[in-house]
Amino acid sequence: MNYQASQSRYQQMSYRRCGNSGLQLPAISLGLWQNFGHVDLRSTFEQVLHTAFDLGITHFDLANNYGPPPGSAESNFGDIMQGNFGKYRDEMIISTKAGYTMWDGPYGDWGSKKYLVASLNQSLKRMKLDYVDIFYHHRPDPNTSLEETMAALDLIVRQGKALYAGISNYPPDQAQQAFDMLKQLGTPCLIHQPKYSMFVRTPEEGLLDVLGQNKVGCIAFSPLAQGMLTDKYLNGIPDQSRASRNPSLKPDQITPVKLNAIRQLNAIAEQRGQKLAEMAVAWLLRDDRVTSVLIGASKVAHVQDACNALKNINFTAAELSAIDEILKNLD
Ligand SMILES: NC(=O)c1ccc[n+]([C@@H]2O[C@H](COP(=O)([O-])OP(=O)(O)OC[C@H]3O[C@@H](n4cnc5c(N)ncnc54)[C@H](OP(=O)(O)O)[C@@H]3O)[C@@H](O)[C@H]2O)c1
Repeated sequence: MNYQASQSRYQQMSYRRCGNSGLQLPAISLGLWQNFGHVDLRSTFEQVLHTAFDLGITHFDLANNYGPPPGSAESNFGDIMQGNFGKYRDEMIISTKAGYTMWDGPYGDWGSKKYLVASLNQSLKRMKLDYVDIFYHHRPDPNTSLEETMAALDLIVRQGKALYAGISNYPPDQAQQAFDMLKQLGTPCLIHQPKYSMFVRTPEEGLLDVLGQNKVGCIAFSPLAQGMLTDKYLNGIPDQSRASRNPSLKPDQITPVKLNAIRQLNAIAEQRGQKLAEMAVAWLLRDDRVTSVLIGASKVAHVQDACNALKNINFTAAELSAIDEILKNLD
């Protein structure tokens, strides 16, 4: 597809410094976990990528296993980068990860140096890139020493295959240990990627404090609770929605209690002149320790909604306590 980026792409997006690093990330980033696999329509996801970049979204987040099938999101992204999109490589921050099951045998999962190095080599081939900007360890490994996993991240950065190192899904105590080790190795941790939304507030139980104290950035994944924090499920489960076609969001997760909360949150969003999806994104950005909100999108309109959130990220004390009250009663 012939693509020329919008001239106004840097006018609406805001950029936030990632911890105390030199890197700024867009307040909204786009993840390719779902909707970018071989099972999906290239014309749609290519348009989603172009729209995102046109709106100032410079950060694209991948992982070795994104698809389906695993690896196909990276291959598709690589194919699109081979076209006109790739000429903007130096304006982009591209991340990938390893840590979940990727290939058979003892070297295709978890956190050994063998797995991380081999996996990143494969990811670079699939994406047809010389380097990624951020390489993450995707989840803690209870059976590999943290020293080994952090040494692997340090090695990868020293080899120039990634510019920065990150961790994802680490609880606060292990995150602190990882930060200390990486600092000592001379490759300070750039960023942590936790699950964080109005429905999953775990990072508020210590992680955000650890990130703030260590001046490490935070990128919140599944900010819309996979689509639940939108108006999508208010009147049942539409065809083609994630809950109707992907096991990562099962229909029975959308409980009557959750639906009731979604309705009440939707009413607050309406009073603010926002869609619920916009308010859910804005609510995460209320905390300046959150560097970026990492959305998923199956349509161009989803990217536009997330970017519209930036028009109002301020909340009154009354709005915040009304939201807290609704979220207190969740199952
Ligand atoms: N580190 C990790 O372990 C980890 C784990 C999960 C995700 N992630 C990262 O986080 C990214 C985002 O995760 P996510 O896809 O779960 O994020 P999300 O933003 O919570 O959910 C995205 C989904 O919500 C729906 N949606 C989005 N905007 C909407 C709108 N305005 N109105 C109605 N529906 C809307 C779409 O689903 P439909 O398909 O129903 O249209 C979309 O695919 C991933 O791509 C990945 O990069 C990381």
